[in-house]
Amino acid sequence: MQLKQLSFAVALVVASTAAMAEPMVIKYSHVVAEQTPKGQAAIKFKELAEKALPGKVEVQVFPNSQLFGDGKEMEALLLGDVHIIAPSLAKFGKYTPKLQVFDLPFLFDDIHAVDRFQDGPKGQELLDSMKKKGIKGLGYLHNGMKQLSAQKPLKTPADAEGLKFRIQSSDVLEAQFKAVGGNPQKLAFAEVYQALQTGVVDGTENPWSNIYTKKFHEVQKYIMESDHGVLDYMVITNTGWWDGLPDDVRTALNKAMVESIKYGNKVAFDEAANYRQKVIDDKKAEVVKLSKDEVAQWRKAMQPVWKKFEGDIGKDVVDAAIAANKN
Ligand code: LMR
Repeated sequence: MQLKQLSFAVALVVASTAAMAEPMVIKYSHVVAEQTPKGQAAIKFKELAEKALPGKVEVQVFPNSQLFGDGKEMEALLLGDVHIIAPSLAKFGKYTPKLQVFDLPFLFDDIHAVDRFQDGPKGQELLDSMKKKGIKGLGYLHNGMKQLSAQKPLKTPADAEGLKFRIQSSDVLEAQFKAVGGNPQKLAFAEVYQALQTGVVDGTENPWSNIYTKKFHEVQKYIMESDHGVLDYMVITNTGWWDGLPDDVRTALNKAMVESIKYGNKVAFDEAANYRQKVIDDKKAEVVKLSKDEVAQWRKAMQPVWKKFEGDIGKDVVDAAIAANKN
């Protein structure tokens, strides 16, 4: 072969290798079990994104804090070590005070009110509240209303006095348990089971899907049907990375994200009652109903928490959330 022919052949190989370029790897990391609403939404995103962009993207999903626990995932996102995460709305305090609205106890009547608020203008505005920090909100994702759990029944706020509670890294949740005389401790989600099992803490709060899939009901004697707050997520990405994607890729990923969130939300709505029933059927923990009067006592005890954070959050945001309770 002549030198000219040879270099042409080499050029052809190089060109076809470039055409078969490796797909872009997109890492989606989270801390919960695969069968939960968030776990299912992440899997759905992988499926839809890879279908829409065949050979162009590969989505790798890491559940159960396998890649990053919730202490590290936000930092990793900003460093570009992971591309999509969906932290609980309680975990954004370092980046914006506004999302603390979701932690105010007894603010939302139910998950439908949360949904209306998130879909409304204020909720949508909050998706951009961390833009300056390099974080872009792609959408909200439901888990559900939180239930209190402990080694003793917590019928009234006085029952919580002196108990140690695991909380997410939220100053509002810290104030919530302090308001009833408890000792809150911020711990990563991956550490909760062991902390409950070994008595490092006496109680905690989480929605039914997390209680069941992480077996918290096996290491807690009582679960109160308190529905006292919400645990939802914001699916976020690194603004720089997202804006730097080719337009067609970004558009397709956004569409896959919207669909995957819809799917996850459906799982959240459909499965909350099932997970509650599974916890009851397991008979490991007793599920305790609170009377209207008992709920009123909890509500009253936690009023100071609102006062403390309303200013930072913004009255406009709190008012919009309250208004969402009226269908
Ligand atoms: C928790 O830390 O309790 C939850 O936020 C975990 C999760 O992501 O659902």
